[in-house]
Amino acid sequence: MGLKHVTTVEQLADKKLLSTLMARAAELQAMPLHEYPKPLQDLTICTLFFEPSTRTRLSFETAIQNLGGHLISVENAGTSSSGVKGETLEDTIKTINCYADGIVIRHPEVGSAEEAAKVSDVPIINAGDGAGLHPTQGLLDLYTIQKSKGKIDGLKVAMVGDLLNSRCVHSLVELLALYKIELFLLAPPELKIPESYLKLLKKEGITYHEYEKWEDVIGKVDMLYMTRVQKERFKFIEDYRAIKDSYILTLDLVKQMKKDAIIMSPLPRVNEIEFSIDSDPRAIYFQEVRNGLYARMALLEHIFAN
Ligand code: NCD
Repeated sequence: MGLKHVTTVEQLADKKLLSTLMARAAELQAMPLHEYPKPLQDLTICTLFFEPSTRTRLSFETAIQNLGGHLISVENAGTSSSGVKGETLEDTIKTINCYADGIVIRHPEVGSAEEAAKVSDVPIINAGDGAGLHPTQGLLDLYTIQKSKGKIDGLKVAMVGDLLNSRCVHSLVELLALYKIELFLLAPPELKIPESYLKLLKKEGITYHEYEKWEDVIGKVDMLYMTRVQKERFKFIEDYRAIKDSYILTLDLVKQMKKDAIIMSPLPRVNEIEFSIDSDPRAIYFQEVRNGLYARMALLEHIFAN
């Protein structure tokens, strides 16, 4: 059965569905532009972004247009939509239902995409709900791992940085928990991953380690997932400043990594990955960006063509 809404990672957390989507993403990635199918040709999709975005919004908008869809877009919904006048998110969503056949939403509140889905007759895709989830980032990250390493089972994976607030980490951990991986969690005490994810890992029988030192992680893993400290989630700027440089990936650290390891990041980067690392073949974060376009095309096709 096709998916309707993608508001949580749970809706994607099915190994069969994931392998179908990843295989389709790979097919689309190998296709010239003029051969793309046009399953969205009679449809209008709205991208509604209340928080800043470069990659997520542009890749969704490229994907929608590649698949023949019509696009309407609210880029700075936090300041430019009727929310500013006091309109509720529910009313905004009901309004967009009058114009669009699907809505891709990014919003600062955890749970906002699910709230939107409750009042929407058209599919809602969560493109990030605050410090909650970012399901399609999880999908594109999984696809990137599969594509670069040729497998997911058996890998040792490290998540580094703001594990408390990174919706990308939350989403990828939830998907990786379906596979036979070993997880290394490297974060300052204030930014540890929420307990609910540790519970999930235990339930799924995943071996995980929580560390604070690079040396416990750097030479051991096949994939290193770097995240920035999420400044916008801090109440007090001093708390952010005190912690923002906790984990910076330097050239020296990269030298200690396995020769065939990969370095990923959802981006944007602030200073947590030294720029000189970009030319190392193990640094694949810009390939990851590219992969996102095809993973999102595969997902849109799955939702709207089924
Ligand atoms: C991330 C996000 O918005 O959650 N970026 C992205 O979508 N690729 C990561 C971040 O903002 O740090």
